[in-house]
Amino acid sequence: MNQPPSSLGTPAVRADGRAKVTGAARYAAEHTPPGCAYAWPVPATIASGRVTAVHADEALALPGVVTVLTHENAPRLTPGDEPILLVLQDACVPHSGWFVALVVADTLEAARAGARAVRVEYETDPHDVLLHAGHAGIKQPAEANGGFPADRERGDFATAFAEAQVRVDATYTMTPLHNHPMEPHAAVAHWHEGHLTVHDSSQGATAVRTALAGLFDRPEETITVISEYVGGGFGSKGTPRPQCVLAAMAAREIGRPVKLSLPRGQLPAVVGHRAPTLNRLRLGAAQDGVIAALAHEVLTYTSRIKEFVEQAAVPARIMYHSPHSLTTHRVAPLDVSSPSWMRAPGEASGMYALESAMDELARAAGVDPVELRIRNEPSTDPDSGRRFSSRNLVACLREGAERFGWAARDPRPGVRREGALLVGTGVAAATYPVLVSPSKAEVLALPDGTFLVRTNATDIGTGARTVLAQIAADALRAPLDSVRMEIGDSDLPAAPLAGGSSGTASWGWAVHQACTELLELLGEYGGEIPPGGLGASADTDQQTNTDDAYSRHAFGAHFAEVQVDTATGEVRTRRLLGVYAAGHVLNPRTARSQFIGGMIMGLGMALTEGSTIDAASGAFIESDLASYHVPACADTPEIEAHWIDEDDTHLNPMGSKGIGEIGNVGTAAAIGNAVYHATGVRFRHLPITPDKVL
Ligand code: MOS
Repeated sequence: MNQPPSSLGTPAVRADGRAKVTGAARYAAEHTPPGCAYAWPVPATIASGRVTAVHADEALALPGVVTVLTHENAPRLTPGDEPILLVLQDACVPHSGWFVALVVADTLEAARAGARAVRVEYETDPHDVLLHAGHAGIKQPAEANGGFPADRERGDFATAFAEAQVRVDATYTMTPLHNHPMEPHAAVAHWHEGHLTVHDSSQGATAVRTALAGLFDRPEETITVISEYVGGGFGSKGTPRPQCVLAAMAAREIGRPVKLSLPRGQLPAVVGHRAPTLNRLRLGAAQDGVIAALAHEVLTYTSRIKEFVEQAAVPARIMYHSPHSLTTHRVAPLDVSSPSWMRAPGEASGMYALESAMDELARAAGVDPVELRIRNEPSTDPDSGRRFSSRNLVACLREGAERFGWAARDPRPGVRREGALLVGTGVAAATYPVLVSPSKAEVLALPDGTFLVRTNATDIGTGARTVLAQIAADALRAPLDSVRMEIGDSDLPAAPLAGGSSGTASWGWAVHQACTELLELLGEYGGEIPPGGLGASADTDQQTNTDDAYSRHAFGAHFAEVQVDTATGEVRTRRLLGVYAAGHVLNPRTARSQFIGGMIMGLGMALTEGSTIDAASGAFIESDLASYHVPACADTPEIEAHWIDEDDTHLNPMGSKGIGEIGNVGTAAAIGNAVYHATGVRFRHLPITPDKVL
């Protein structure tokens, strides 16, 4: 057989690019079944207490309003393990913005007018939404997110730190941050002859189906969840969110399809957010910068209804040579929205702090910041003692320094002036764990010589269809255009979410396995395909569950150049450059997009994105895109992403590591370190806005 060159590793264009830019690709809220009604939620205006009355008469009297659901008349749900989905089940209000009613109407406008006409009475309890170091409610959690132990200690930190020649002791803080995907959370639910179909904007439709099956106490086969195209999620759609539950409830109540697209301003309170963290870093080193003692102590908050503990001290366990190490997590339950996953949860916050402290150590020891990191490179994972399956942080630092022109840098801070501008450069390291989950997939060879690959992967904008087709074509030794992907539907073979930078590895492993099996089958059939096609399926439950001798992480290095306006206090990033070591890069075009997207998110974290909770109302103040500034093109400098190809045979059949999150790990530190280099002033509280700089 004539074998085409493999498309894996080539910059194949997005299979669905044209469909997306022409509007042919339909996102959840763009489905409007006949007879569709529209819903608009009513958020609580208190931070803690109970609903004592919902007055719906005025709303119901408005033209087009069909019904108003409240905790008194909404269908009962069967509680599972996700408290944030138990909407309209009781009178309790755990935080501001919690949904207390849902107005359903013939039109979107009528639903919105109805929601404004609903009057809610409350009985309020005192509330507390402010996180601070001395808070009386601080406790040690059972574990940090990801199942990591809350506390780890190796050696004797206190003694080693006390005896160190060079010491850094600094606290870095971050406000809450919001995911704000371009496409708001939306669901269209439709009950038909006992079957529930939901178009939901989600990072994983299989898990949404499981959640709905539990809540509505129905067999999974009677539910279909479709997430065919998704306009970003950044973790906020990684777990089921209230919109799909509310839409399904309302649709059942009124016997019509119901569409619910959450208004932007309501998102922060109900879709999760990055929890704020206070990070105390203590580094003790010899005069040459080699670390003896490293402590990273994290304080964060969680809501009253859910324990969510941002695992921000976890990366400090593996980053550097540190014979005496202490890493801890503490959490204060407050009357706040439940925090949740936001791109590189744990790593983004923790690495900002650790990599800023490394810069302070470099300054204190008089060692170049790139060199300091190289001197503290561990030979094995300091936490587990395991070998790294591959670790090329040093190569990333060296290549980044070369490409960035680091050698020409004057190490003295505050000396590079251009009129009113101070200019500086900074560096920071990045890491993200290699994760993988079991997945199923099937592939069908059709008599016309094409292949159909089916798995419930989700494309959240990353190009999942494209890279999975490349993996399939490679395994089948077939041309890329002979492979068609079906993804984004819970009726397809079950698959994990697009999250944890693990989608491509998880789905791709199953796709690779099914295709490899099919290729063998085709050989047995002598290439002759029966009229009904020839199929193979895979389930990677066994393969992905092996616990072995390796510690697996991707690494990277970020370099930034900033200018600081001494008249206005404005910081602008001039250049960002990242070099990554993440196994084999399977599609350079879509990979570059993901790296750069992550870096822009890090830029937002450093300079423009910040959220505050109003102490009086308990509500997020910056709840829209005007007040919560996500970097736009005008904020975005020259950005370069490069990578070092790693040939790591301990990963998966494709040899890939996840790339979705590492881009925004360490970026904020690189920018903060550049601001220090520019000004000689250390800012330890993000975002670095003009009011802080002046
Ligand atoms: Mo991402 S926070 O793992 O969806």
